[in-house]
Amino acid sequence: MTNAKLKIENAVIKYEDTIVINDLSLQVHGGEMVFITGANGSGKSTLMRGIAGLLPLSAGRLERSQKMSYVPQIEEADRDFPACVREIVLTGTQRKKKFFYTRRDYELADKVMKELFIDELANHEIKNLSGGQLRRVFLARALCGEPDLLLLDEPCAGLDVESHRILFRILENELANGCAVIMVTHDDSDIEGIRDSRVIKISDGRIKI
Ligand SMILES: Nc1ncnc2c1ncn2[C@@H]1O[C@H](COP(=O)(O)OP(=O)(O)OP(=O)(O)O)[C@@H](O)[C@H]1O
Ligand SMILES: [Mg+2]
Repeated sequence: MTNAKLKIENAVIKYEDTIVINDLSLQVHGGEMVFITGANGSGKSTLMRGIAGLLPLSAGRLERSQKMSYVPQIEEADRDFPACVREIVLTGTQRKKKFFYTRRDYELADKVMKELFIDELANHEIKNLSGGQLRRVFLARALCGEPDLLLLDEPCAGLDVESHRILFRILENELANGCAVIMVTHDDSDIEGIRDSRVIKISDGRIKI
């Protein structure tokens, strides 16, 4: 796949009989930042779920890195899941099924929680977190997978100014290390926050330049 971390060709994604993504093609390389924009209901999250492998393609081809981490839109999170912050973040290290976490997994989880300023929440139940705190927990979980393809669906919703700044610093670092990042956003200031990014707009199930 050369340096392409994602290659979608003529993808069709639908819910029962309703086509949401229609004949969409996209290629993203390591170190590349792609923003996905478009109106509410245009299919951005559907496309992300398709790329993540949570929805099947009805037609077309999808080739992507196995080292993929996906952060869903916050509305999709199950807040009642009985787990504390550290437990959720640690699951991000589980790319291959293992019975135990290694010392390195714990160290990585601690490092990432510190970077996102949630280390003091490590033992808190996720159901008691604020929206912005929960968002940072899911970001930490994704980073623990050491991805080379990072999918972020509206990650900035509910983040305060400082958390937003930290996220973008982390993203710059991931991009410099060769990770491809795809981020859904409605906010132009996100797009301006990363140099040399590509912006694609979804409309009627397709990419509008
Ligand atoms: N699980 C589902 N079952 C059936 N239809 C769905 C499902 N999820 C989304 N849809 C429909 O698919 C279309 C695209 O939804 P999607 O969530 O991908 O939009 P979006 O661009 O992410 O919107 P937003 O900006 O509001 O997050 C909408 O018409 C929506 O109603
Ligand atoms: Mg969405």
